[in-house]
Amino acid sequence: MSYQTILTELSDHILTITINRPDKLNALNKTVIEELSHAIEEIYNNADIKAAIITGNGAKAFVAGADISEFLTLDSNGGKTLAQKGQQNVFSKIENCSKPIIAAVNGFALGGGCELAMACHFRLASDNAKFGQPEVNLGLIPGYGGTQRLTQLIGKGKAMELTLTGNMIDANEALRLGLTNHVTTPENLLSETKKIVQTIISKAPLAIAEAIALVNHAAYGKENGLQKEIDAFGKLFDTQDAKEGAKAFLEKRKANFTGN
Ligand code: COA
Repeated sequence: MSYQTILTELSDHILTITINRPDKLNALNKTVIEELSHAIEEIYNNADIKAAIITGNGAKAFVAGADISEFLTLDSNGGKTLAQKGQQNVFSKIENCSKPIIAAVNGFALGGGCELAMACHFRLASDNAKFGQPEVNLGLIPGYGGTQRLTQLIGKGKAMELTLTGNMIDANEALRLGLTNHVTTPENLLSETKKIVQTIISKAPLAIAEAIALVNHAAYGKENGLQKEIDAFGKLFDTQDAKEGAKAFLEKRKANFTGN
């Protein structure tokens, strides 16, 4: 599949998706959302893909938000559909993917860009990255999950401040708040991200999938998380990979996980 606004590259079972509108700071227009939705569907369906990285093209931006030039013609129904479709086909789909999807934030991550990074399972950032939810400057609020995921990640007080002021924070402040897990140089961002992703995909995929689902469950404060953990923990003992993991440990060798 060839795309107009994103680049995809599959190497070592890791799909790297690069938002590719650098002249518009990779703003998320309708086409980007459609193409991202398609690429994420591919992560779900292609067994050769074990993980994904999302980043932005150019030295300046990860994603500087939803494309504001598409806003003027929207009414309440149009706005609601934009948020609903985007959340359903892209943001929630990333969050609920059973394979790890990690953001490599290489510059501005504003509005929908911050939300895209937050929908990923976790984030690394380059030291020139800037995060923010500036929608109030446009008379709007975040619509791609920002009010919920920012609160989950950094807590109510700071989420309120960022969302109500529209202020940006730099990479080190994002690190301090837990919005990004690591900060590195722009040159090392992708290689550092790949290193972590490679570690994850060397583990048993069914265990990784259960862990993602359970941490997401907890983040939304849903009920019965501990019982769900007990059930999933038990279920994993029936997998070949759990037998292989224990056997490999006892035989002092590296486990060879197959996803079964
Ligand atoms: N939607 C549409 N176009 C955008 C955009 C967005 N969210 N963010 C940047 N662009 C475009 C600019 O219009 C400009 O296009 P042009 O060269 O055709 O005029 C180009 O990207 C470069 O942006 P520019 O504003 O000139 O860069 P800058 O370095 O002066 O400022 C930002 C960078 C990120 C501070 C500024 O672009 C900005 O505030 N963007 C909007 C952020 C935002 O509100 N996002 C939330 C949207 S809901």
